[in-house]
Amino acid sequence: MKKYFAPGRVNLMGDHIDYNGGKVLPAAISLGITATVQREKSRFVRLHSDGHPEKIIDLEADLYFEEKDGWANYPKGVLSDFLKSFEIPFGLDIHYNSTLPEGSGLSSSAAIEVLTMYILYDLAGEPVNRRELALRCQAVENHFIGVNCGVMDQYAVANGRKNHALLLDCNTVTHTEAAIKAGKYSFVIMNSCKPRKLIESKYNERRAECEESLRLIQKKYNISTLTEANEIQAEACINDKVLLRRARHVITEHRRVEEVVYALNNGNFIGVGELMNRSHFSLRDDYAVSGMELDTLFNCATATPGCIGSRMTGAGFGGCAIALVETDKINVWAESVKKGYLEVIGHNCEIYPFSIEDGVHVIL
Ligand code: GLA
Repeated sequence: MKKYFAPGRVNLMGDHIDYNGGKVLPAAISLGITATVQREKSRFVRLHSDGHPEKIIDLEADLYFEEKDGWANYPKGVLSDFLKSFEIPFGLDIHYNSTLPEGSGLSSSAAIEVLTMYILYDLAGEPVNRRELALRCQAVENHFIGVNCGVMDQYAVANGRKNHALLLDCNTVTHTEAAIKAGKYSFVIMNSCKPRKLIESKYNERRAECEESLRLIQKKYNISTLTEANEIQAEACINDKVLLRRARHVITEHRRVEEVVYALNNGNFIGVGELMNRSHFSLRDDYAVSGMELDTLFNCATATPGCIGSRMTGAGFGGCAIALVETDKINVWAESVKKGYLEVIGHNCEIYPFSIEDGVHVIL
């Protein structure tokens, strides 16, 4: 029997940037998925998880997407991709146990994909290249699951490092590490507990808007990704007001990623908080991916003493936001945010303390 862990992720800055070829700043978190794995002498993989029906997968017959299989499609997709390059000459029994709220924008799907791929590499005795792990799992998400995401989530889950954020260049798919020493402040996760219903259609719509914006700018300027453009070029080339707002988010958000790394390196937490607030406004007003619940979390968080900045994190349309809060005020602050949120939205939100942890690994 062997145990493995894959973290979820938060993104500290740079949302809706990965598929526009720029830099993003995610970090792997202490909430995540643990898997207990046993080899079996069969050609079956038994998948189970607390609170979900068990699935038995025949490696020779069942490796295609089936709506009714729900969560088990993620490990199925990974198995199918792995078998394109390697063999699995044994059966498996995998029990998943998650502390990550599902569908909350903390990358539970990337976590189960990367975790399963890592287990397969490890048990097959293949050397693990974490960049390749991330790219393979992104391909599973794109082609097997059918979600057109960028590489950020899978990369953060595979490559995370304790107490560091990853400054990931999505063009080259390589990263440098940025130490997170938040001094007397802590990052906190706020879950809106709103299921992210519109996410896939709106996500694809935003991607298409970015592609169109890039095409218009490229008519006049020699750039290869939207994050290379500046506002003057965008204004000169894009007449449509909505497209211009989308492009403006990408251009300004990308700049904020470098700015926030600079502020973090200099211990300028007030500066970090201000950049987080500006990022939230940009995601809300220019990119239109926030919504009532995430805006309410932001409003309650920033209006309560002790908080110096907040922003939604991930794709948006529900899911989670983060806040930077004075550590010794967190409890009082959290109670006030929960109360304020309940009054406006009518259901509870959840607030989680977390630490920044290593990417996928063996526990024992
Ligand atoms: C989702 C996607 C990522 C990224 C974020 C937004 O989490 O999976 O690839 O695009 O949204 O930053």
